Amino acid sequence: MDQIKNYISQHKDRFINELLELLRKPSISADSAFSQDVIETANMVEQSLKDAGCDSTEICETKGYPVVYGEKIIDPKLPTVLVYGHYDVQPPDPMELWTSPPFEPVIKQTELHPEGAIFARGACDDKGQMYMHVKAAEFMIKNEVLPCNIKFMIEGEEEVGSDSLADFLEGHKEKLSNDIILISDTGMMANDVPSITTGLRGLSYVEVEVTGPNRDLHSGIYGGAVPNPINVLNKMIASLHDENNHITIPNFYDKVEEVSDMERAEMAKAPFDIEAYKKALDIGDVHGESGYTTSERYSIRPTLDVNGIWGGYTGEGAKTVIASKAYAKISMRLVPHQEPDEITELFKKHFEAIAPEGVKVKVTPHHGGLPYVTNMDSIGYQAAAKAYETTFGKTPIPERTGGSIPIVALFEQVLKSKTILMGFGLDSDAIHSPNEHFGVWNYLKGIETIPYFYKYFAELNSGQ
Ligand code: BES
Ligand code: MN
Ligand code: MN
Repeated sequence: MDQIKNYISQHKDRFINELLELLRKPSISADSAFSQDVIETANMVEQSLKDAGCDSTEICETKGYPVVYGEKIIDPKLPTVLVYGHYDVQPPDPMELWTSPPFEPVIKQTELHPEGAIFARGACDDKGQMYMHVKAAEFMIKNEVLPCNIKFMIEGEEEVGSDSLADFLEGHKEKLSNDIILISDTGMMANDVPSITTGLRGLSYVEVEVTGPNRDLHSGIYGGAVPNPINVLNKMIASLHDENNHITIPNFYDKVEEVSDMERAEMAKAPFDIEAYKKALDIGDVHGESGYTTSERYSIRPTLDVNGIWGGYTGEGAKTVIASKAYAKISMRLVPHQEPDEITELFKKHFEAIAPEGVKVKVTPHHGGLPYVTNMDSIGYQAAAKAYETTFGKTPIPERTGGSIPIVALFEQVLKSKTILMGFGLDSDAIHSPNEHFGVWNYLKGIETIPYFYKYFAELNSGQ
């Protein structure tokens, strides 16, 4: 395995150029105008698995976008690592805020990435992080140091809720059987503070529609005398938090796992600079549920946030109008043991109940996902920790993150497998935002670290 450093310095330019090529494809799963690009990206990923040395690869059709599968089985008696990632990306808008076009990747220096970062939609989430695994596999296969079997499952609908994946797992249990699942689709604390993600939040996502009068009205002739759905919607949304920023939906917290004081004290030891946090976001102060620290608020506590709100006139200039309808998209991040369907139902019931007489309310559920937590005493965690120790010279810190990867809980339910989340991105890499980027150093460090995971995982499994 120790040849990995050499292999990277020899092939570094090619590793970067191949990723840039993949980033040029606008594989936006949310927008059907890009469906051809999404499919072409799947084909590119399949070709990259072939080139890396997989024995067999396949484009597996689903109800939605295909899953790319590949495997290298060296000995069925050896353990198997299943790598999951996604080749689809978020829409790039708002376009005008990008300093270079989202699908024309360029390398630029930043304060946190003095060695340069690749700027493009998907650079970090998740093409760049997924491709580290393809290149790590290439190294192990070409140098004949792969110590266990490897399977790849790269999907194309993660950013829209992985709708086809539950069926796919059910239908391919044997093909996907494994001893551990390995994913790089999260982040780490800092380039000199490696961390392993031990928890993901769940998600419940709804859209609401408030209807007032049956048509748009003149805001002078009718204003003051009829319910304005935009005013009403805002008041309803405002009432969803109390003065302590507690969510007011009845029974919302019933199943929330209260983290013990001991575990909270342990979490508080992780480095977190609140001043740097505020400065990086240009905010005068942080905001959240009383009684919890900032890092607790975004990891072990559930939330409710408006993701978008619209209605009435939003064009240039002014138009005096009372809209007939107002809309909002709302996400709730969930923690163990909250159930997305149950939370969606609680939201719906409450939102309908607080609507004033004068309006009609419609709540439409979107996708959801279960939260996930894993413990540190598994072989998988230990193998990952040893891998980071080898390449970073430091023991990684366990970290529960606020984001969601709903498929991880499904992997546990359907395939009975645990997942190890080895993320190499930084929170400041702007995933889902304009100017998403991924440090070149991080990309190469990931490629360097991953083979050691295989080495230690195989060793720990064989009892060495
Ligand atoms: N890779 C992210 C999730 C993530 C990012 C977790 C950083 C932790 C740290 C993933 O692609 C994503 O964006 N997930 C969505 C959920 C999905 C159902 C659309 C999310 O978290 O909003
Ligand atoms: Mn992702
Ligand atoms: Mn994402």
